[in-house]
Amino acid sequence: MKIYSQITYPYRKGLLQEMSQHPSIAEILDNGEFRKLARYRHHGFVSCLDHCIDVALLTFSLAVKQGCDSVSAARGALLHDLFFYDWRTGGPRLHGFRHPAIALANARRLFTLNSIEEDAILRHMWPLTPVPPRYRESMLVCYADKAVTCRDYRDSVRGAVSAIKKSFQKTAP
Ligand SMILES: [Fe+2]
Ligand SMILES: [Fe+2]
Repeated sequence: MKIYSQITYPYRKGLLQEMSQHPSIAEILDNGEFRKLARYRHHGFVSCLDHCIDVALLTFSLAVKQGCDSVSAARGALLHDLFFYDWRTGGPRLHGFRHPAIALANARRLFTLNSIEEDAILRHMWPLTPVPPRYRESMLVCYADKAVTCRDYRDSVRGAVSAIKKSFQKTAP
């Protein structure tokens, strides 16, 4: 199996393998432009690529459990933050409001999308953006994005605290 990104959570490997067996999901994971997301930090120390893959893994597993279109849900999740800038240092003003439309334009340029995938990308910031997701699958992406974002920041804080602790231990007499 290809390693798409650094596997930081043990559960990811098996689920990523299962998810990538679907050709239309593998099409995104193997795409060179999509993989450029690894260059951009997103939340804390987490890259945009890792964030998108984690959102897709959670969305995929929830969609399978709920018996809805897990492939479209996962594709929408993979592409929901498809923008090529570090939003803390560059990109447009009001990034939070504007990046879903930017991600959708990038995704349309690279892939053929169905209406569920388009809705998942465009509506994933709800309720920050006023229009809610239209489909069950896109609501799952919206939920998974928030859950994974909280975890991204929690893990980044933990990592920073443990690095500080280690540096104190090294300097202790
Ligand atoms: Fe986003
Ligand atoms: Fe996101």
